[in-house]
Amino acid sequence: MQDHIHPIFDHLITRSEREKQLQQHSKVLWLTGLSGSGKSTIAQHLERRLFKAGYFPQVLDGDNIRSGINNNLGFSLEDRRENIRRIAEIAHLYLNSGIITINSFISPTQNIRDFARQIIGPDDFIEIYINAPLEVCETRDVKGLYQKARRGEIKGFTGIDSPYEAPLNPALEIKTNELSIEQSVEVIYNHLLPIIKY
Ligand code: ADX
Repeated sequence: MQDHIHPIFDHLITRSEREKQLQQHSKVLWLTGLSGSGKSTIAQHLERRLFKAGYFPQVLDGDNIRSGINNNLGFSLEDRRENIRRIAEIAHLYLNSGIITINSFISPTQNIRDFARQIIGPDDFIEIYINAPLEVCETRDVKGLYQKARRGEIKGFTGIDSPYEAPLNPALEIKTNELSIEQSVEVIYNHLLPIIKY
């Protein structure tokens, strides 16, 4: 069987060739935080900010992942780990095609995030803690899910009856109850610029 496999690796376009063409260094931004902490909002604004500046970013979040490739997964810790494994593999593919991904997932435990870091490679994984106190997220309750979780209509909700472990050593921590969306985006953008600049 091996005889029928023709290695093509010599001819594949490399990551560095792609980065040169796109005039950027690719990285994986990993936003972690509670539901309602502001991850998706920041991801979308940051994507727009980078795009306007001439970069090629791509947001990956629950809307385009859990409704598609991961629509067979729930919220047990096992399913969350599988959710994150697949996302990390996707982010890794993007990384090798020269794209900057902005990943916006609760990714609730140290173990789950370390798994993602390992798949992506530690040098390309930038962990950003989007931090808002549980009370603040619960007051915002953009999707009404905290109320449902408190009433017991959703079981295993992060921060209520399923764990969230804050990152121990993130590259950045953004306190969204102290900064505006614009300020939050600016802090991340300024951190990122020297890293992605070609
Ligand atoms: S993760 O834990 O596997 O990383 P992910 O970021 O994909 O989670 O999805 C989180 C989103 O799913 C939340 O923002 C919320 O809208 C929704 N959701 C539904 N059920 C739950 C639950 N039990 N815990 C947390 N979020 C939930």
